[in-house]
Amino acid sequence: MTAAKLRAYRIAAAGALAYTVPVILWGAFVRISGSGAGCGQHWPTCRGEIVPLAPSTATVIEFTHRVTSGLCLPIVIALALAARAVFPAHHPARRAAWWGVFFMVLEAAVGAGLVLLEYVAGDTSPARAYWMAGHLLNTYLLTGAQLLALWWALGRDIPGRPIPEGSAFARGRVIAAVRAAPPSLRAFIVVGALALCVVSMTGAVTALGDTLFPLATEASLQERITGGSGAHIFERLRIVHPALAMVTAFGLIVAPWGVLPDRQRRNALVLACAAGAQVVAGIANVALSAPGWMQLVHLDFALTVWLAFVWASVEAVHDAACAASPDPGAPSARRDGTASL
Ligand code: HEM
Repeated sequence: MTAAKLRAYRIAAAGALAYTVPVILWGAFVRISGSGAGCGQHWPTCRGEIVPLAPSTATVIEFTHRVTSGLCLPIVIALALAARAVFPAHHPARRAAWWGVFFMVLEAAVGAGLVLLEYVAGDTSPARAYWMAGHLLNTYLLTGAQLLALWWALGRDIPGRPIPEGSAFARGRVIAAVRAAPPSLRAFIVVGALALCVVSMTGAVTALGDTLFPLATEASLQERITGGSGAHIFERLRIVHPALAMVTAFGLIVAPWGVLPDRQRRNALVLACAAGAQVVAGIANVALSAPGWMQLVHLDFALTVWLAFVWASVEAVHDAACAASPDPGAPSARRDGTASL
């Protein structure tokens, strides 16, 4: 591996993630603008055509999402092949990049399922909520894998503390590495990841409800929270997300200071600020009756909180794995594989 190749891979991994985030936001815009049926019940063609002629605004919005999200798959496949060319066999960056491909295929499959089952536009069937929640969960797993594909290429070694060769962490086995971490860190990561995923999945259902049953600006507090009498299940569930989110955000603001290693104060700060900003955005969302632009801001912040959490977690597990190193003086087993050259 040459330094130039490694640099190029890092840029490509950062670029792939940076490209995916706006595509996700545009996907939310498709929902917010009610354009999910812009291509009719056709997939992968749009209204039966490869490129729709004389499209409506909804068709342009949906078609743009299909083209930009369609490009994501070749991008993540190219990144995985690049990881294969740049890193030695069994390197964690290679593993993470292939997980990125897996979740991207799943993301496309869920998106296609939504269209083919007609869970789009004004459809209010409860089953749509499960699909939206599943879509959001997969989005998190996808972006998490993409972040790890980048992180493991950055070679963020701790001077004098090599990652134990052959350890679960060095092989990129995330679950095994978390299980080997100290109990408080393990609890933080497991509870934090589960809470964030559940909170965000309930948020996806709230977002769907707000799109299908928009809140009037003069709506009472009770209507904002429970939808009022005779409300649809999506409206009645409105209270669930803010309630769970408040508790989770509190945990994400407070817990990192006690759990993350001292040298990771910056990660704790970033996570706490992101979670705090998300609470402010959430409250503004409720107060403003969730206008489209605010929904996009809130989703963007949610992704930021998630990625900050993944980053802080992987760095803390890395620290823990290095602290368990039997021989701190040994030559560094670098994640970028350069030590073996
Ligand atoms: C850690 C904190 C939070 C996270 C991770 C989070 C995450 C999310 C996510 C992922 C969505 C779905 C976005 C979409 O699919 O477009 C959402 C929606 C929503 N959230 Fe939160 N949220 C948090 C805090 C809050 C708080 C504290 C409130 C209110 C007090 C709130 C109110 C809402 C509302 C009203 C929606 C539906 C409208 C929209 O899509 O923006 N959230 N949230």
